[in-house]
Amino acid sequence: MDFLQVLQTRRSIYAIGDQAMVPYERLLEVLKVVIEATPSAFNSQSQRVVLLLGDSHLRFWQIVIEALRTTVSEKQRLRTEKKIAAFAAGYGTLLFFDDQEVTNNLKRQFPQYQDNVAIWYQQHAGMLQINIWNALSDLGYGASLQHYNELIEPLVKQTFKIPNTWQLIAQMPFGNIIESALKKDIMPFEKRFKIIE
Ligand SMILES: Cc1cc2nc3c(=O)[nH]c(=O)nc-3n(C[C@H](O)[C@H](O)[C@H](O)COP(=O)(O)O)c2cc1C
Repeated sequence: MDFLQVLQTRRSIYAIGDQAMVPYERLLEVLKVVIEATPSAFNSQSQRVVLLLGDSHLRFWQIVIEALRTTVSEKQRLRTEKKIAAFAAGYGTLLFFDDQEVTNNLKRQFPQYQDNVAIWYQQHAGMLQINIWNALSDLGYGASLQHYNELIEPLVKQTFKIPNTWQLIAQMPFGNIIESALKKDIMPFEKRFKIIE
C-alpha cells in the first residue's frame, strides 16, 4: 500500500482474532523501525512500548476485566466483559508508556519550557501510537486504541515488572480483522482546512 492508502485503511477495529498476519520477526522489525523513526520533543525519546503476546496478552485483559468489575454496575457488567473479551481474542496488545524520569529531566533541563514539555510528551506519545497503528494496518492487522490507565496501572506494573517511572498512556489490542469498521462521518474538508495566499 502506498502511504495515503495506509492512512485510509487504518481504522478502529474491535472484532479481532488471534492469527499472526506476518512472522513474529517481521512484526518486531517493523516496531523497531517505527519506534526509532517517530519524533519526540527535544529528541528525548521518552516513549516506551511493551508488546504483550500469548499468556501475557490474556493476563492483561483479565486485569482490565477485574478492575472494571469494581467500577461498573451489574447491568453494564456483561456488556463490558463482552467488549474486553473481544480485545483478549486478538493476537497481542501493545502498551504505550512515557518514561517520566526522562520527561522530568527535560523539564529540569529546560525550565522555560516545562509547561510545554508536559504537553509535548503526550503529543509524541500520540505520534508513536498513530505510526504504530498505521504500520499494523499496513501489515494487515486490525487494532484499536484503548485507555484503561489509572484503573490498572499499579497491577500492570507489578505483573509485568514495568519500571516505576513509566507512566501508562494507552493500550492497543491487535489481531487479524474479523469485522471491518463501518463507514465513518467525515466533516466537510473546507471547514477544517484553509489556504491563505
Ligand atoms: C486520542 C484518541 C483517543 C481515543 N480513545 C479511544 C478509547 O479510549 N477507546 C476506543 O475504543 N477508541 C478510542 N479512540 C478511537 C476513536 O474513537 C476513533 O479513532 C475515531 O472514532 C475515528 O475512527 P477510526 O479510528 O476508525 O478512524 C481514540 C482515538 C484517539 C485519536
